[in-house]
Amino acid sequence: MKIVSTLLLHLMVLSMAACNSLTDTVLDSPSGNLTIEFMLSEAGTPSYQVFFGGSEIIAPSTMGFEFNDQEAMNAGFEMIGGSERTFKETWEMPWGEQRDVVNHFKEMKVELQETSAPNRKLDIYFRAYDDGVAFRYYFHEQDGHALLTIAQEKTHFNLTDDHTVWWQPGDWDIYEQLYTESKFSEIEVEPYRKNLANLIATYIPENSVNTPVTMRMEDGTHLSFHEANLWNYAGMTLLVDTTNLSMESSLVKSDRLGYAVQRKLPFATPWRTIQIAENAGDLIESKLIVNLNEPNKLGDVSWFRPMKYMGIWWEMHLGIATWDYEQTQDMSTWNTDEATSVRHGATTENAKRYIDFASKNGINGLLVEGWNTGWDRWIGFPDREGVFDFVTPYPDYDIDEVVNYANERGVEIIMHHETSAAPRTYEQQMDTAYALMQKYGMHIVKSGYVGPIIPDGEYHHGQWMVNHYNHHTLKAAEYEVAVNIHEPIKATGLRRTYPNLISREGLRGQEFNAWAMDGGNPPDHLPTVAFTRMLSGPIDFTPGIFNIKLDPYREDNQVNTTLAQQLALYVVIYSPIQMAADLPESYEGQPAFQFIRDVGVDWEQSIVLNGEVGDFVTIAREERETGNWFVGAITDEESRELTISFEFLDSNAEYEVIIYKDGEDAHWDDNPTSINIEKIEIDFTSSLTIQLAEGGGFAISLLKK
Ligand code: NOJ
Ligand code: CA
Repeated sequence: MKIVSTLLLHLMVLSMAACNSLTDTVLDSPSGNLTIEFMLSEAGTPSYQVFFGGSEIIAPSTMGFEFNDQEAMNAGFEMIGGSERTFKETWEMPWGEQRDVVNHFKEMKVELQETSAPNRKLDIYFRAYDDGVAFRYYFHEQDGHALLTIAQEKTHFNLTDDHTVWWQPGDWDIYEQLYTESKFSEIEVEPYRKNLANLIATYIPENSVNTPVTMRMEDGTHLSFHEANLWNYAGMTLLVDTTNLSMESSLVKSDRLGYAVQRKLPFATPWRTIQIAENAGDLIESKLIVNLNEPNKLGDVSWFRPMKYMGIWWEMHLGIATWDYEQTQDMSTWNTDEATSVRHGATTENAKRYIDFASKNGINGLLVEGWNTGWDRWIGFPDREGVFDFVTPYPDYDIDEVVNYANERGVEIIMHHETSAAPRTYEQQMDTAYALMQKYGMHIVKSGYVGPIIPDGEYHHGQWMVNHYNHHTLKAAEYEVAVNIHEPIKATGLRRTYPNLISREGLRGQEFNAWAMDGGNPPDHLPTVAFTRMLSGPIDFTPGIFNIKLDPYREDNQVNTTLAQQLALYVVIYSPIQMAADLPESYEGQPAFQFIRDVGVDWEQSIVLNGEVGDFVTIAREERETGNWFVGAITDEESRELTISFEFLDSNAEYEVIIYKDGEDAHWDDNPTSINIEKIEIDFTSSLTIQLAEGGGFAISLLKK
């Protein structure tokens, strides 16, 4: 008995030693705070593990793939080589949350090969940054296979505990769901399937979450899981195993084509990313996602200027006007016989009214929705191919006249292309549509993909649509057009490579407050979005609603924030185009509108001053060129006091400072428009304690004298 166990022990030590010398590979981040370890099991299964400050934060997690026409790749590997490098650069964002970005990482390449036939090879690239880790797979050429057809990726993320998670379901069609805060073990998507209020296309096939998904560990460490450089691949949702506290990649599959991904060999997958921070605010400051993308391939994009814009838009969502020229019902009565008195929104006259207001107030853009034919059958029709041609205006919209009128007043018309999720029609029309924009000197298009994708069996987040969205971006760039996509694929940092990818929706935006049957976005929505969706990239949220109660247009709906919070959103939510979303008449004579006139849209630097996921956040941003600073803070349904220290200010400068804060009696529901606007004295030595109302916030402009 004793002999046997000694022998066993001896064998075990031998195999561990063999493992160490041949296959164990460890990579530290530049400062050494993060470590990734790569391992091969005795069966040749690859796995990795992550440590933060010496403690395990991702337990050993296996990696692999399943294919439609080949054996799975998940075992039988040996390591045949590897290499390591360190990289450091500083690159400049043409527009962004900051000008200079430091990209500093260590990279380890692990070369694997199967020990038996067909002896396929697989490389894994690991990167360790100080703000997170990432890895991607590289598939080599294979004899007899020009294409690789992936049925499923089997990347695991094994957690070390039952963390607190802010998640939304792994919907294959839409990201416009509310977040739930729960323990990981309590993630359950079923209620989302039952609550499909107002969602036009949604498909949640399994108990999975979408990314970015953010977690807080017991000791306060924050993690956020996402992907970078999603290119010619399917979007990744994460299948949740609530018993084993584990997540597994679950790629969005095409039912039509029967696979998740098909690619020509060789190719690399998107990066799987984990942002890791000591506190919630550092997650927002992390530049991991853009750093994992390639440098700018478009060169000079100065034809796009970051701007504030207005829109013939909110009036449609309020039911005052319609997109369609002949429609007599507003959207809330579509399914009834009720005829309401509505008018077409996109008329020459109405556009001029907005242009006058915008030009008087230093707002440089005007979005016009419902300008083109097709809106009579854009929704609810099974065959929507060819509904929109994107070039034919309705008879009451004189596009020449509107564009001239706008140009003379320093306003650029923002084009609108609602595709009604018929991407093939859009692809056929792109050249003509963008050429029309070029003729008129229009440099921004807002596109949209409402409804289930045509052809049937494709989902918004699958490879086929990923390729469509990327084609849309590249094609637009040929015509010096920047894109702001609604119902998009998630942002994965491609804006670094293609800086005409300026903004997108991809969340429950402001519009839900106008018509959602569940009462709209609750007060904790945006304090959650800032630490989840916003980690992936710019958001076209469309802030700035002043008529919070939506009187007299929507009796059952309202915006669930205070007015001061609506101002704060211009700073908290990042986008190089920010809408002043309300009607001109809602801004007329409102002192608070001065903040929207003043606030910047393009930043030299951004600092997160405080924050907790789902509760509150304060961000300060310095405007490029002017050196003006703006501070925005928002809170959830809890009122709270925040103390801000202004040490980030230029110590040599004087500022004219205006604070816009919740009135003493302000409350998102009871008294949302109560606001105090005051001039105050502030310099870099100051600190200020400010009270935020329930659902409230504050905004501060610090204009250099
Ligand atoms: C959904 C978009 O999010 C919204 O902004 C737009 O007005 C409608 N689609 C119509 O295109
Ligand atoms: Ca939408």
